[in-house]
Amino acid sequence: LLMDPRAALEAVGAATRAVVPVHLYGQCADTAALAAGLPPHVKIVEDAAQSQGATREGRSPGSGGIAATSFYPGKNLGAYGDAGAVVTDDEESADLVRALANHGGIAKYRHDVAGFNSRLDGLQAVVLRAKLARLADGNAARRAAAARYDELLADLAAAGRLTLPVTAAGNVHVWHLYVVRVADADRDTVVGKLNAEGIGAGVHYPAPVHLTPAFAPLGHGRGDFPHAEQAADRMLSLPLFPQITAAQQQRVVDTLRDALR
Ligand SMILES: Cc1ncc(COP(=O)(O)O)c(C=O)c1O
Repeated sequence: LLMDPRAALEAVGAATRAVVPVHLYGQCADTAALAAGLPPHVKIVEDAAQSQGATREGRSPGSGGIAATSFYPGKNLGAYGDAGAVVTDDEESADLVRALANHGGIAKYRHDVAGFNSRLDGLQAVVLRAKLARLADGNAARRAAAARYDELLADLAAAGRLTLPVTAAGNVHVWHLYVVRVADADRDTVVGKLNAEGIGAGVHYPAPVHLTPAFAPLGHGRGDFPHAEQAADRMLSLPLFPQITAAQQQRVVDTLRDALR
């Protein structure tokens, strides 16, 4: 479910100013293929909200480019409230973003551009600084838990009942979410049964962007993005967090098995 660089490049036109690949669920989209094919006036702005610590071919989001990330509490690196950051190794972009986030200027009462208030709260920074030191261990624990789900669900996948997530070549995945797709069951019924057993399964996400009222003015309809539409109807996320135990995962899988029966 990562952006298809070829399809994205075909959609680029004279009015395109930027492409925003989302490093979805914890693994990086192929920004190198995008960069190689884009005309120079089109920027890449990476959405790394779900991929803190992820790499593709050894490259982190934002290196040699610009990426935004979210420290919303549910993220791999989550604050105790809303927070976020832009990461880049380009000084000019960094200065512009610092100014934009601070009412358009770095010096007090000097406004070089029309900005807004998007400063990182100092209290959140304290939390994030402490949690940053544990990010790599947390991501490793997520990888181990994802591998355990892969094993526990292998027979359902082999029987064609479920599609399991895959890690794209060259990627180090950080498993923000473990998202499976049901083949022949009613997804909402399955999620309902898991939730009724106290299992926090979710749907990320029930509506593709082009079918939301917010983006209706762009004029897209059902059928325009068939992969996203099909995924939205069939996907569900299983509980995954660094501290999840093998016994908890077994219970999730047993309950899922029952729900699919
Ligand atoms: C892929 C992705 N992009 C953007 C966001 C938005 O992050 P925030 O709510 O911190 O602005 C999120 C978080 O919900 C996300 O998962």
